[in-house]
Amino acid sequence: MLTADELSLISRQLKPNPTLASELLEIFQDIFNNPQYQQWLKSEQFLGQLFEVDEKYRDHEFFNKNGLVKDGKLQVKINSLQDRIFLTDGLWIPKQYRVFPFSDESVNLLRHMEEKRLDEIATTLIDFSCGCGHHGLSVSEIQQRYSFDVSHRAVIYTLINSILNEIPNVFIKQNDIRGGIPKELSKLVTRNILFLTNMPFAIAPLPNVLPLAADGGITGATWSFKALEAIHKFAMNNLDKDSIHASMLCYTVGNKQQDKWEVIDKAEQLFGKSKVSWKLLEDQTMWRINGKKEQPNPMNLAEGLAKKADCKFYVSDEDRERVRTEYHNLAKSLNNSDWEYLGYGIIDIRL
Ligand SMILES: C[S@@+](CC[C@H](N)C(=O)[O-])C[C@H]1O[C@@H](n2cnc3c(N)ncnc32)[C@H](O)[C@@H]1O
Repeated sequence: MLTADELSLISRQLKPNPTLASELLEIFQDIFNNPQYQQWLKSEQFLGQLFEVDEKYRDHEFFNKNGLVKDGKLQVKINSLQDRIFLTDGLWIPKQYRVFPFSDESVNLLRHMEEKRLDEIATTLIDFSCGCGHHGLSVSEIQQRYSFDVSHRAVIYTLINSILNEIPNVFIKQNDIRGGIPKELSKLVTRNILFLTNMPFAIAPLPNVLPLAADGGITGATWSFKALEAIHKFAMNNLDKDSIHASMLCYTVGNKQQDKWEVIDKAEQLFGKSKVSWKLLEDQTMWRINGKKEQPNPMNLAEGLAKKADCKFYVSDEDRERVRTEYHNLAKSLNNSDWEYLGYGIIDIRL
């Protein structure tokens, strides 16, 4: 596994050397476009089958010296969005450190942003949980980006990806949303701010079952609530609060018949009903298990929740039945609180 220090060393070598960065970008693009790599992306990477790079890259000096390729195998995952390349962790990295490996959530946020033409107005983009930088670095015309994440490893990947893709004006920093809005934003004097974020939002019956990048607590809303509170505090302190828009992708427990959803209720309490809207992504399946999202949206908790125990890269064989029971019990207790469904969608706040 490439350590955070090794990743950091890579970023420090690339930063002053744009020629090297652009050479590496071309190689990563070439690997990404290789049909064998595309095939590998669909495979069960969590079984530790790392991608074997083509002969021509095996002896590449930078790759070897920096551990990007070991024994002919690529030590990072490559994703691509809007013609940009993103290095991130693969599923073989232990879940407590693993940087979010998937780009589909960012794709949903970007699609939403384009549909609502939010990028045409926004001048500043803020992401509280950037992971490797998938959507924050993919937005084209934006004057300033702020990318934060609690994970040091995620922050380094975002830095590497910003250098590889030559993204200007990105401020990248480690920040825990529990501490509220990062202090760098307290002095931000600008109009037209767009918060675009997807905090960890999967339901976890117990701590340490899900990875840091997915664990949203017992209703999945722990970090989504924190993000909403931070945006609210920011808006209260910002004189130009009529020019703030937030789009947050999340799961939320709810009551489908009454169209009542926990995270939406919280947003409405904070910002007022008229400022909040919610779009359930009905065309999307949800509840990722072994890399595949196959449940309908919204998902009936009693029917779907416990399937997470079958996820091989989250739950070990020894733990599987215990975790399944915990999920079953949690579904029952959520049902007793009138939360029968889990919805997957985007909440919009316009101030
Ligand atoms: C679902 S991932 C999204 C990553 C990225 N936006 C993407 O889609 O690739 C959630 C991210 O939230 C980060 N995170 C978890 N807890 C956090 C916290 N307390 N404060 C800030 N970020 C946090 C994780 O490290 C992870 O990168």
